[in-house]
Amino acid sequence: MSPFTLTRTLPADATAAALRSDVAYGLNRSPKQLPPKWFYDAHGSELFEEITRLSEYYPTRAEREILTARAAEIARATGARTLVELGSGSSEKTRLLIDALGTPLTYVPVDVSESALRGAGEALLADHQELSVHALVADFQHGLALPQTPGPRLVAFLGGTIGNLLPDERARFLGSVRALLSRGDALLLGTDLVKDEATLVAAYDDAQGVTAAFNKNVLSVIDRELGADFDPADFEHVALWDREHEWIEMRLRARGNVTVKVPALDLTVDFSRGEEMRTEISAKFREEGVRAELAAAGLALQHWWTDSESRFALSLAFPA
Ligand code: SAH
Ligand code: AVI
Repeated sequence: MSPFTLTRTLPADATAAALRSDVAYGLNRSPKQLPPKWFYDAHGSELFEEITRLSEYYPTRAEREILTARAAEIARATGARTLVELGSGSSEKTRLLIDALGTPLTYVPVDVSESALRGAGEALLADHQELSVHALVADFQHGLALPQTPGPRLVAFLGGTIGNLLPDERARFLGSVRALLSRGDALLLGTDLVKDEATLVAAYDDAQGVTAAFNKNVLSVIDRELGADFDPADFEHVALWDREHEWIEMRLRARGNVTVKVPALDLTVDFSRGEEMRTEISAKFREEGVRAELAAAGLALQHWWTDSESRFALSLAFPA
């Protein structure tokens, strides 16, 4: 059998239907909003990788520092024979876990971005001959089903992507992850931590404008997939710290009065000058909050590791 298989649990027409329904719902609401998962077409996935290399964007470096220090301990604590990774993207940091776990190992990267999965699979197999990679094109928020693979399983959700879910979405998501775990399986969760506002805002509003391009990419996705006529130049990138919710909010603000047609939805939408549409939240966490959210889903936090500057945390949790 080939060491790389790719399964689509989302047929292309289901993805198209989900995009249509998210856009119809989000553009008809007040305030308007779009879910962040639509950032990640091939170009959006590349822009995200560029973000991870920016001097202002510390989460990737901080999480890599923790993984470098703790991968061996994670391997000992879990003894995992299957590593499932949700929202795996380029799988770049995951190499540290794969190398610590050792082969034979089955790696199950799960992502909505097929281009990211193919790129990551190819790169990993080039230098890990004994790895078996079973990639899944799937939405981790909806009815995730995993292939039958050897246990124990370690489910990794890195990068702080859990912060891109709203609190009620997080609770549902963690409950569904708990349901996938048997006794002896584990969850490794990356969370960005609350810190000073200037550091946070700079990470989401970099000087080179890469995050702005990433934010506006969602408009290009809607143009291409739904025949809309958004002009990204009509919108400006906004990143602000919501102190009450402790999350960064990314928005797109109309530079003037803008009318957009979305033919696939038979929809015409008006933005008034200065109107803002939410495109992403990125929640920042504290240890007690993470512990409580895990506990509410039936998961017991066993290890909490931070980087040397306490910017980011990795939690290791087991079924309670
Ligand atoms: N884990 C990587 C990538 C983070 S970027 C890292 O830490 O660097 C977030 C990734 O999650 C992207 O690859 C995106 O395509 C994927 N993603 C976002 N929402 C998703 C969803 N609902 N289901 C599956 N994958 C999703
Ligand atoms: C994927 N996720 C954790 C990123 C974040 O930091 O919330 C996405 C991102 N948005 C803007 N920059 C990066």
